[in-house]
Parts: sequence; C-alpha cells; structure tokens
Amino acid sequence: MAVVTGVNGRRIIVGVTGGIAAYKSAELVRRLRQKGAEVRVVMTSAAVAFITPLTMQALSGNPVHTSLLDSSVEAAMGHIELARWADAVLVAPASANFLARMAHGLADDLLTTLCLATEAVVFVAPAMNRVMWTHPATQHNCQVLQQRGVRLLGPAEGEQACGETGAGRMLEAEQLLLALGNHWQQGALADCRVLLTAGPTREAIDPVRYISNHSSGKMGYAVAVAAVAAGAEVVLVSGPTALACPAGVECVAVETAAEMSEVVKARAGNSQIFIAAAAVADYRPTVVWDKKIKKDAAELSLSLARTEDILAQVAARSDKPFCVGFAAETNDLEKYAEGKMQRKRLDMIAANLVGPGLGFNAADNALTVFWQGGKQDIPRADKGIVARALITLIAERYHAQSTS
Ligand code: PMT
Repeated sequence: MAVVTGVNGRRIIVGVTGGIAAYKSAELVRRLRQKGAEVRVVMTSAAVAFITPLTMQALSGNPVHTSLLDSSVEAAMGHIELARWADAVLVAPASANFLARMAHGLADDLLTTLCLATEAVVFVAPAMNRVMWTHPATQHNCQVLQQRGVRLLGPAEGEQACGETGAGRMLEAEQLLLALGNHWQQGALADCRVLLTAGPTREAIDPVRYISNHSSGKMGYAVAVAAVAAGAEVVLVSGPTALACPAGVECVAVETAAEMSEVVKARAGNSQIFIAAAAVADYRPTVVWDKKIKKDAAELSLSLARTEDILAQVAARSDKPFCVGFAAETNDLEKYAEGKMQRKRLDMIAANLVGPGLGFNAADNALTVFWQGGKQDIPRADKGIVARALITLIAERYHAQSTS
C-alpha cells in the first residue's frame, strides 16, 4: 500500500451540485491536485448551468462524469466502479435539494447514486440562501445524514450571492482541504496500522467438499471501512466471500484457517491493532481425500483436528498488538464472551448473538463489547453503523491503554 499523508495519494470524488458557489469547486479541484490527490469530478445537470465540465476536466485531469446513463462513461468506469474507486466523496457545493434527495436515499442521478453506492467517507459542504439553510426541513435532512456518518463541512456565515447576510456560504477551498486532510491525519486511528480478519474459512474434505460456516464477511468488511474512515491503514485478511475489497483497504484472500494464520503471523508484528472478525473453522479434516468420495457407504465418519487459534496466538506474542476478538454465541453471551477474553488474553471482545437471521449473513447486528473493567452495548443497526461505533470504542480503549 502506498504511503499517504493528508490528501496526498487519496482518490477523491468532487461532486458539484447546482449553485453559484460551484465556481469555488474549480479552485477546490485545483488545490486538491496540487496537494497530490487524484480527483474525479461528478456534476449534476444543475451544476453544468453554473460551471462547464470542460473547466473541471482541465483542472482534474480526468473526464468529468455528468450522467448515470452515459454509455461511454459506464464503459470506461461505471458508477459502481467509481463508487468503489473513491477514498472520499466531497459534495461541494451541496444544494438544499441535493441534501434532501440524499437524506431520502434517492438514486435518480449519478451523484446521488454514487453517494448511495460508495463505502467511502462522504463529506458535504452545504451552500444556499440563509433562510433555506435554517429551514427545519434542511436542518432535519442534515441531522439524518450526520446520523448516517456523512460529515458536514460548514456552511460559513457572511455575505451571500442573493444579497442577504447569514449562514449558508460554502467554505473556501482551503478550509475544505484542511478538513479533508485532518480527517486522515487526525482521525481516531490516524497513523495506526490495523490488521483484520473477516469471512469464513473453508477446510477441504475432498476436491469438491469442505467444512465452513455462514459468515458472509459483511461485519468484518464494515469494520475495515470504518477503520479506514478513522484514518487507519488497513490490511484485511479475508476468507472466501462475495464482497469486493473496500476502497483504501489492502485485501489478502485466503481459504483455510492455516492460510489465514500464516498471513496474520507475517503481518501482526507490523500492526498496532488486530481485530479478529473472521469465523475461523475450529476443526479441519485430518485427511483430505485427493479424489471425490463416492457415496457407497451408508455412513461416513470424518476424523477432525483442531485448527490453530489465530487470535490467541497473536495475543500471546511478546510484540502483541491491541487485540480485539469477536465472540459468536447462541446463548449465555456474556459468560462465554468474558471467558474467551480472559482465556485468550484479549484487550477487548465484541460479542454477538448468532442464529437464524442473527449475526451471520444479516445486514444488521448488535454487539456487547467487553474490555478489562468495562462493557458497552452497541444496539442493533446496520453493520456499517455498528462497525463505526465499534471502531470509536476500539480507538478510545487503544489510546487509553497506550497512554497509561
Ligand atoms: O460475516 P458476517 O456474515 O457479517 O457475520 C459476522 C460474524 C457473526 C461472523 C462476526 O460478527 C463474528 O462473530 N465473528 C467471529 C466468529 C467466531 O468464530 O467466533 P468464535 O466465538 O468462534 O471465536 C472467537 C474469536 O476467536 C473470534 O474473534 C475468531 O475470529 C477467533 N478465532 C477462532 C478460531 C480460530 N481458530 N482462530 C481464531 O482467530
């Protein structure tokens, strides 16, 4: 993974919506590039009435995206690829109309679709008339967006294009640049290397069969996204899943517990935090048939051997990182989770109830997080929201421990 500082080396989508402040976006794009960011510009149909795509193309050094249904753009870099490509999306200016559409989860143009499809951190820099800004509808929309993790930058107060004075001016390019840079430099996990496991492992029985579990990887991948958003450099060691590697994350694909263990051992010494969200198979067949087993016998017994406990091994190292385990339990959550934390000598453990529709492969989750002398519930919500709350807690405990 390339070394990045501030916005240098970051891939940033600048979204421009319709408003007189759109002229400031040109300077924003110019300064972002000057600071070493790679920039792609997405403009709404209203934005192109204020500033030309040609200007933004010349300043960004990349083709400008204006339409969801533009076949040439879709062929080159479709909206989903664009959403995955970005380390951050900054919508500047963000009009009242755009904020309302985003708050409602609309996907009726390229920019709203991108904001819905991206896992990268999204910033909005509102710009509008002061009455529109203070209107309860706009305030409510901003609140909803912030609760979902969208970062609000500004607006500033001052003289407005309409001749009035008040809050609603878009922040200047330099202020936006600073906020973006601070996000990576002063995030709760800035300068931290986080090693993470996610997904299931597969332990072969014969060339066509294996032992595995229902882990989809969603929880671990969401934690990776949240750690990147907190400024960390993240390495994700993942068993087989259907998920794409999140933006800004270095992914290492493995299949078996032994492979996962090998990669983790090689990387653990270089990490400050290790988070084990993977559902690692506890047992593997002692013999792996080299040919498909024929179903001649009425019964078949498999001899199984314990796999290595990856988390316990990392936690036992002399140079151990801050270790966070997960505990997947169907009952007696608290008792088993605390037992695992003590036995494996962990700094923290995030316990979740699992079963039909719970934990594994679900879109949402609820956690009870334990550490030495403390406990906190993270209520049931989308895994992205739960992951952000977990990362906040991990950052707090990690910093508390490293300063004690
Ligand atoms: O992937 P999803 O579909 O989103 O589902 C999320 C999840 C339920 C898989 C996730 O939230 C979760 O609970 N992951 C841990 C699952 C698990 O294996 O728990 P456990 O209680 O069996 O293991 C305890 C801890 O030891 C875990 O951190 C596990 O990663 C680790 N472990 C276990 C066995 C082993 N051989 N090596 C390990 O590192």
